[in-house]
Amino acid sequence: MTDLQLTHRYLAACAIAREAGRLTRLRFEQRDEALTLKFKGPQDYLTETDAEVERLIAARIAEAFPDDDFFGEEGGGSFGRDVWIVDPIDGTADFARGVAHFCVSIAFVRDGRTEVGVLYDPMRDELFAARRGAGATLNGAPIKVSPITDIRQSVVELGWSSRVAFDSYSTVHARLHALGAGVKRRGSGALGIAYVAIGRQDAYCELHINSWDAAAGVLLVEEAGGWANDFLTPECLQHGNRVMVCTPALREQIERVMDV
Ligand code: IPD
Repeated sequence: MTDLQLTHRYLAACAIAREAGRLTRLRFEQRDEALTLKFKGPQDYLTETDAEVERLIAARIAEAFPDDDFFGEEGGGSFGRDVWIVDPIDGTADFARGVAHFCVSIAFVRDGRTEVGVLYDPMRDELFAARRGAGATLNGAPIKVSPITDIRQSVVELGWSSRVAFDSYSTVHARLHALGAGVKRRGSGALGIAYVAIGRQDAYCELHINSWDAAAGVLLVEEAGGWANDFLTPECLQHGNRVMVCTPALREQIERVMDV
């Protein structure tokens, strides 16, 4: 694939994320406080907007790049040499409960390597974007990870889902507390990872997260000068993986606490 073809995909991902985000925001503002909540499983929310936004993104990608594969959280898809991995709303639980903390996540993956990663938070009008080898930006301005080196001054977000036994989560939580980290859980893994890329927090870790939640964000952190584990393994594309991203100085401690 030429540099120009990758640039085309990067620009398309930014435009599509903004369009999808506008639709998500509209639906969020129209939502009925008395709406009936729907679940895919325990603590796993589903809204009609997830599917609606994913259809929009899939259509735009198919128009622009008919030969690329597509895989979305809601509708699935296929994995080929060139594949788009999409989460239409990351932070669905917050979206469904009326909390303005969610984003659209779009990654373009070639030969198992993320080349483009874009996240858009429509409520704050924040577009995080990265292209491999070209750095990471927020609304066009370069971003980098925080300079924090002492974990006692750090903010670490520890994600959780019902896919992982609570015991392992609480072990990691307790270890982080013991080291003196300020532990948070906000509700959008994708945004949590982007917040590491921009230095709003110093690490994000989760014992299991899906590729569509984290692939774009991991590239953002790497391009912003941070460290990330080998997240997007071939197995991870379909089944997910553990994710660890942080400022380089915290790497050893984060790897140690996550060793459960
Ligand atoms: C979830 C969120 C959450 C993370 C979970 C994800 P969804 O994605 O990113 O923060 O902890 O692992 O499944 O369901 O909001 O798209």
